[in-house]
Amino acid sequence: MVDLTPEEAALAAELPPSEWAAASDHLEAWYMDDSEADQRAPHRRTPNEPCPAEVLHALGCRVWVLDPSKYPADPQLAAIRKARGYNYDDCITCTPEALPNYDEKLKNFFEEHLHTDEEIRYVLDGSGYFDVRDLQDRWIRIWTRRGALLVVPEGIYHRFTLDEGNYIKALRLFSGVPVWTPINRPADEHPSRTKYLSAVVAA
Ligand SMILES: [Fe+2]
Repeated sequence: MVDLTPEEAALAAELPPSEWAAASDHLEAWYMDDSEADQRAPHRRTPNEPCPAEVLHALGCRVWVLDPSKYPADPQLAAIRKARGYNYDDCITCTPEALPNYDEKLKNFFEEHLHTDEEIRYVLDGSGYFDVRDLQDRWIRIWTRRGALLVVPEGIYHRFTLDEGNYIKALRLFSGVPVWTPINRPADEHPSRTKYLSAVVAA
């Protein structure tokens, strides 16, 4: 257990699902349509089918909303990092100009995969979509915008794409030496997958 002061503990507290809806300027989630159109399009169903925060929370996703104007000397970010042991960070900017072979990279980000650790992203500017699978194998699209810090759990099938704004500046956080390697689906027998499923089903 990490020793946190009461102030740090308060700052590190995740956004409870009951408050996600009020943070829709930073984060919004919906069930995706089945269209093969551009991955950067919103892919909302008609009519839109929002995904309740409680569903994402039960799938293991965690959310904070921070003020990027306070970055990097943000006590809230420091408290979250301390509480969760995120001792590594780097900042990536994805735009067609900043990223060589942009279209190919976009396709790679969009391959369905899992990781052997959490994936932690803090959107300092711009926006992007994290898609996660629910237990019925439906895609849930999570639109993260400036200020959102999202954790997707180890073992969840997911993918990422820029949206039509073609711009995200994100802080990548990690505990220990970062492992970015995606394990592409199918990975149903992978220990991270089986661990994830037993944790989610037990919850
Ligand atoms: Fe990933």
